[in-house]
Amino acid sequence: MRTAVAQSLAALVALVDLVPTTHAQITPQQIYQPPPASSGAVSQQQSNLTNGVNPQYTDLLGNALWFYEAQRSGALPSNNRVSWRNSSCENDGSLNNTDLSGGYYDAGDYIKATYPFCWTMTSIAWSALSFGSAYSRSSQDAYLDSTLRWGLDWLSKAHSDQDTLWVLVGNPAVDDQYWGGDLDIPGPRSSYSVTRQNPGTDAFASCAAAFAASAYLYSGESGLLPTSPNGANLGGVPSIRNRTYSEALLRHADGLWDLAINSSPRQVYSVAQPVAGQSYPSSDYEDDLAFAGLWMALAKGDASYVNEALTFYPNGTNGFASTNAALNWDRKVAALPVLAVQMAQRNTSLIPNMTRFQTDAELYFDRLTDGKMQYVSQTKGGLYWWSGDSDAASLNPALNAAFIADLYSNFATTSAKTSAYRSLADSQVDYLLGDNSYNGPYIVGQHPNSPQNPHSAMASGGTDITNINNSPPKELHVLYGAVVGGPDKQDRFFDLRDDYPETEIALDYNAPLIAAAVSRIARNVTKDPPYTTSSGSANVASGRPTDAAYPAGKSGGLSKGAQIAIAVVVVVVVLAAVGGVSWWQRERLKWWYRQKKMGL
Ligand SMILES: *[C@@H]1O[C@H](CO)[C@@H](O)[C@H](O)[C@H]1NC(C)=O
Ligand SMILES: *[C@@H]1O[C@H](CO)[C@@H](O)[C@H](O)[C@H]1NC(C)=O
Ligand SMILES: *[C@@H]1O[C@H](CO)[C@@H](O)[C@H](O)[C@H]1NC(C)=O
Ligand SMILES: *[C@@H]1O[C@H](CO)[C@@H](O)[C@H](O)[C@H]1NC(C)=O
Ligand SMILES: *[C@@H]1O[C@H](CO)[C@@H](O)[C@H](O)[C@H]1NC(C)=O
Ligand SMILES: *[C@@H]1O[C@H](CO)[C@@H](O)[C@H](O)[C@H]1NC(C)=O
Ligand SMILES: *[C@@H]1O[C@H](CO)[C@@H](O)[C@H](O)[C@H]1NC(C)=O
Ligand SMILES: *[C@@H]1O[C@H](CO)[C@@H](O)[C@H](O)[C@H]1NC(C)=O
Repeated sequence: MRTAVAQSLAALVALVDLVPTTHAQITPQQIYQPPPASSGAVSQQQSNLTNGVNPQYTDLLGNALWFYEAQRSGALPSNNRVSWRNSSCENDGSLNNTDLSGGYYDAGDYIKATYPFCWTMTSIAWSALSFGSAYSRSSQDAYLDSTLRWGLDWLSKAHSDQDTLWVLVGNPAVDDQYWGGDLDIPGPRSSYSVTRQNPGTDAFASCAAAFAASAYLYSGESGLLPTSPNGANLGGVPSIRNRTYSEALLRHADGLWDLAINSSPRQVYSVAQPVAGQSYPSSDYEDDLAFAGLWMALAKGDASYVNEALTFYPNGTNGFASTNAALNWDRKVAALPVLAVQMAQRNTSLIPNMTRFQTDAELYFDRLTDGKMQYVSQTKGGLYWWSGDSDAASLNPALNAAFIADLYSNFATTSAKTSAYRSLADSQVDYLLGDNSYNGPYIVGQHPNSPQNPHSAMASGGTDITNINNSPPKELHVLYGAVVGGPDKQDRFFDLRDDYPETEIALDYNAPLIAAAVSRIARNVTKDPPYTTSSGSANVASGRPTDAAYPAGKSGGLSKGAQIAIAVVVVVVVLAAVGGVSWWQRERLKWWYRQKKMGL
């Protein structure tokens, strides 16, 4: 019998061999840099298409990918396009003799959080598998490649041996006390892992899904949607095909799936590592196992994974007739029947009959479009609103719903449903893009009316943690392409730097923008996005917001204890009602730290 040490050493050697050394395999024909925001006010309509693509959509996609480049951690390559970024945190992992440098900063702060990041990577790969023809047509395929590789290469380091996945770099409590640029980030930073002996089933599975979906994309897979009536294949990105890389990614997927299925006890990673799980604690792991199992089946062409996935798929009284959960980094339930239908269409030997999954998907989407989903409403301006989740960042749940409604609209059982789901998707994306009472896109740098004050320590240029809003008076750098949290339930947007529910930026917020942009390009939508014709100035709300960052609203003056008590009551009520809204928990924790930081 081999000793544990020998086993780990052998595993480590095997994995180190797999860590890729290049960051991109194709070179962009032309370097893309975000144009000035004023270009978002130039109507292009049908007159100015390049390869049939409206340049406004190229800029949306180009800027959304550029945002990820701005969030890079580690030693930056000389061709990094964000002139104001520096190499940073190059010794991450050193306290644990593991190289955890690289990857992306999670949001407006500097932690690196594996679990939500894996959802971000999976959804970018998924939209590329569905609408990837958009990338070469807009000359963004090299940037898709570098965005994915920068993330996947880091995840490969985080899966440092067959028994270990590092789930967090940086201690949230320390990180939330720092407001400043990328040169002075406090270090050396702590890192936290889940292991075969102390498992994080949700994190293992979510990471397996990210590797499997990406391996499938890099295998050169031609797409996950039916061809269009003229025979066009919308999905896949042939130019980034790389069998070596795909196989390396699949080895990681295999290892992580093994950890997810075979380590015990099965438990969420926040139980195994409370500090690591406190910013993004997940509700459960079953959805992650089902989601990962489907991706494993696709990537490996092996139906046995489907059977395993289905043992974690909602059924009976917990089935889709009662599933209300928003789709996000925590909850993948709503995505399951959509992915299953796409798989069935792609390969009937994996799923011979898609009827069950069509029924489930339609049980979900019909209740949404009919306004009958419990705990979900629409704002006056039309934004879908999930109690709890949307209060912490309103655009993300609506845009993720738009993403899967857009995908599923290709498989609906009646043409009335197809158009209802398509309208759902279009309305939410149009809301993001300026069809809203704010009179601008909720995307930084896209239009003169874009938000000016994203909650981002590195873009703000400020170092005064007690005066985030006004120091400096104007945000120093434009964080092009960043989707902000979003407006409140009255469709009001205050554009305050410290109002993190509305103005924070995050890796997962941008993934559905990428999906929306590639879908429109691939489907040859050439009409301008709504912001192009927004005239007049942005309709910035005045006064103070009422949300987790401004819990006392206009009245102010509640004691800290009273504020926390109110928040806890709200959380308990919401949790009881919706059955665990961990996004809200994350924001509540952030809010606790923020109170300390602001000295309130
Ligand atoms: C494929 O990816 C591997 C691993 O990243 C890399 O070493 C190789 O150069 C790539 N091949 C091509 C043709 O780009
Ligand atoms: C076409 O694009 C050019 C360059 O971006 C721009 O100056 C011009 O206004 C556009 N034309 C129309 C009709 O939008
Ligand atoms: C979109 O337009 C391009 C030509 O510009 C064409 O090759 C492609 O087939 C069209 N796609 C669809 C889905 O119609
Ligand atoms: C990582 O390093 C920290 C600080 O030295 C230590 O407390 C922790 O136990 C280490 N974790 C592992 C898994 O070795
Ligand atoms: C990068 O370094 C330069 C100094 O070389 C500094 O002015 C700039 O603020 C730094 N960028 C960030 C995001 O902190
Ligand atoms: C479809 O799935 C089967 C396994 O059920 C696999 O053998 C086959 O390679 C897959 N086909 C494609 C095109 O992926
Ligand atoms: C139904 O779900 C339960 C777990 O919730 C699982 O044990 C069971 O295998 C599932 N049944 C089917 C038929 O998928
Ligand atoms: C698919 O399953 C449904 C019920 O789940 C059934 O009514 C239908 O006949 C099946 N279709 C085929 C082709 O087997």
